[in-house]
Amino acid sequence: ENNCFILGIESSCDDTAAAVINNGIVLSNVVATQKIHEEYGGVVPELASRAHQQNIVPVVHQALRKANIDKNDVSAIAFTRGPGLMGSLLVGTSFSKSFAMGLKIPLVDVDHMQAHILAHFIKVEGQTVPKFPFLAMTISGGHTQIVKVTDYFSMEVIGQTIDDAVGEAFDKAGKILGLPYPAGPLIDRYAKEGDPKRFKFPKPKVDPMDFSFSGLKTAVLYFVEREVAKDPDFISENIEDICASLQFTIVSYLMDKLKNAVKHTGIKEIAIGGGVSANSGIRNALILARQKYGWTTHIPKFEYCTDNAAMIAMVGELKFKKEMFATNEVTAKARMKF
Ligand code: KG4
Ligand code: ZN
Repeated sequence: ENNCFILGIESSCDDTAAAVINNGIVLSNVVATQKIHEEYGGVVPELASRAHQQNIVPVVHQALRKANIDKNDVSAIAFTRGPGLMGSLLVGTSFSKSFAMGLKIPLVDVDHMQAHILAHFIKVEGQTVPKFPFLAMTISGGHTQIVKVTDYFSMEVIGQTIDDAVGEAFDKAGKILGLPYPAGPLIDRYAKEGDPKRFKFPKPKVDPMDFSFSGLKTAVLYFVEREVAKDPDFISENIEDICASLQFTIVSYLMDKLKNAVKHTGIKEIAIGGGVSANSGIRNALILARQKYGWTTHIPKFEYCTDNAAMIAMVGELKFKKEMFATNEVTAKARMKF
C-alpha cells in the first residue's frame, strides 16, 4: 500500500504530540507542551502523566483535523513504546492500542531514540537526507548520544553520557545563574553578546566518545559562589560572558566527541537532532566543520528536533511499509536498547 496515512503518537516525557504523515510528507504536527513543569524547574513525572491523559484525545483530534483526514482514513497507528517516563509512556501506549483495535488497523511500536534519528528522513523542501552510513548525535534535555547508523533499523550506540544529558547541563547551570527553566535558549541568547574566552570551565574526562556533564554543573556552582561572595552583583553584571563561556565549553566538548567518532569510524556524514541542536553555537560549529574537515552535516527543522510526533509517524511509515507491526500484547518500556 503506497498511499498510506500514518498517525504518530508521542508521550514519552512532557510533550503530548500527534502527527499525520503521508509518504514522508508531514500533513500535521501537533504538540501540547506541558507548562506546569516550569514552576518546578524540571519535569515532574506524576504531573506529566496526568497532563498526557487530559491532552491526548484533543491533540489526536487536532492532528487529524489539520491533516484534513477522517479517523477511518488512517492506515496504521505508530506510538512511542520507550524509552521515557513509564507513567507518560503508558498513556500513549494504552491510547494507541485501544484506538488501533477500535479502528481495526495495524499498530506500530517506535523507539523514541530511533525516531530522533529517522526524523532526518522527513521530506522537507530544500533539504537533503543523510546518506548511509552516517553518525547521528542526539542532544536534548533527556539524551546525549552518538549513534552509528548503517541502515534505517541498523543502529549502534558508540558513545553516550554517563550522567546528565547536555540539555540538563544547560538547564542546571541556568538554574544556578537564576535563569528560568528551560534555561538553554536563554543561555544561547546571552551567549551571543558575550566573550566566550573570558571564563574557563573544565571539560570532564571520560572515554573518547562518551560524555559527562555533572562535573561541569558543580564547577559552575563553585565558580558562581566564589565570585558572588566577592561581588553580590557578579552574575547580573557578567551574565553575557558567563553564558558565552559556558556555551563555548559545552559546544567544543560536543565537537571534540564528534571528531573522535569521525576518527573512530571514518564516517564524515553527520546528523544532529534533539532540542539542543537549536543552539546557535553548535550550529555554527557544524557549519565551520564542513569547510574545515569536509564533513556533510544535517540538522532537521526545529519542530522535528524537539520531542514531536512527526518523527514517530515517520518511523511508523518506514516500519509499516516493511510490515514490522506490533501485536496487541506490546507494552511500554522505560529503558530500551536498539
Ligand atoms: O528535545 P527537547 O525539546 O526535549 C527533550 O529533552 O527530549 O530538548 C529540550 C532541551 C532543554 O534542556 C533546553 O534547555 C534545550 O533543549 N535547548 C537548548 C536550546 N534550545 C533548547 N539548549 C541550548 N541552546 C538552545 N538554543
Ligand atoms: Zn526526545
